[in-house]
Amino acid sequence: MSKTGLIGHPVAQSKSPLIHGYWLKKYGLEGTYEAHDITPENLESGIRKLIGAGYKGFNITVPHKEAVFKLCDELDDTAKAVGAVNTVIIENGRMKGMNTDVFGFLENIRQEAPGFEFKNAVVEVIGAGGAARAAVFGLLEAGAGKIVICNRTREKAEIIGQMSPKIQVLDWNHRENGLKNADLLVNTSILGMEGQKTLDLNLKTLKKSAYVYDIVYKPLETPLLKDAKALGYEVITGIGMLLHQARLAFKAWHGVMPEVDEALKAKVLG
Ligand code: ATR
Repeated sequence: MSKTGLIGHPVAQSKSPLIHGYWLKKYGLEGTYEAHDITPENLESGIRKLIGAGYKGFNITVPHKEAVFKLCDELDDTAKAVGAVNTVIIENGRMKGMNTDVFGFLENIRQEAPGFEFKNAVVEVIGAGGAARAAVFGLLEAGAGKIVICNRTREKAEIIGQMSPKIQVLDWNHRENGLKNADLLVNTSILGMEGQKTLDLNLKTLKKSAYVYDIVYKPLETPLLKDAKALGYEVITGIGMLLHQARLAFKAWHGVMPEVDEALKAKVLG
C-alpha cells in the first residue's frame, strides 16, 4: 500500500487528490494520496513526518517549491535548471526532487496544438514566477529560437533571462511589442485567474498564425483566451498542464504512465 500526497499552504483548492485518486482506482493500485496543509515554519518537520509515515513521495505546491528544492538529497536535471521541485520520490529516507511542470507545460502544447513547431519558434512569455521558469526552460529544451519575457517586475524577468542568450526582456509597458513576431503567446502570470485582475493585452498586432496559451485554468476560458478565440487564434487552456505534470509524478511513484481521459477531465473541471 503506497502512501503519496501533496504539501502546500493552502491545499484545500488542489485538484491533485482527485487526479491521483482517480488513477489509483483506474489502474487498480493500492494506495492513498492525501493533501497536507503545511506552513513554511513547519515545512521540515512536516516532511520528516511524511517520511516517517512511510510515504513513497509527494507533490509540492505554492509556496514550497523553492524551499523543497533546497531540502532534497538529490535533484534531476530539470529541477536543477528550474530551481524548483514539484515532485519528490522518497527512497530509503532520501528525497529525490523532480520538476514535472516542464513536461506538463510542453505535453499540453503537443496534445492541444499538434501543429505547433517548437523548433526556432518565437515565444512571448508573460510573467516571471516559478511557472514562467518551467515554461521557458521547457521551450528552450524543445528548440525555441527566441523567447521574449515580459513581467511587471522587470528584475525577475532578467533573472530568468540569464538562462540563455535566446531570451530577451521587454518592459511591462511595452508588452504588446513582442506580439508581432510571436508564434506562441503564453500567460504564466496569475492575471485572468478567478478573483484576480485580468491581463490587459491588446492582441490586435499578434501574428495571425500564433497560438495563445494560458496556464491559468480557473476559469478554463480566461478573458485572454476569449479575446484570442474571438480574433480567430487557436488557444491552449491550462488544464492540460496540471493533468500532464501529474502523469509524470504518478509514473515516478507507481511505475505506470497514466492516461488523461475525458472522464478525468470532466471531474477536474466539474
Ligand atoms: P508562480 O511561481 O506560480 O508563477 P508567482 O511567483 O507568484 O507565481 O508569480 C506570479 C506572476 O504573476 C508574477 O510574474 C507576477 O508579477 P511580479 O513578478 O511583478 O509580481 C505576476 N502578477 C501578479 N499580479 C500581477 C499584476 N497585478 N500585474 C501584473 N503581473 C502580476
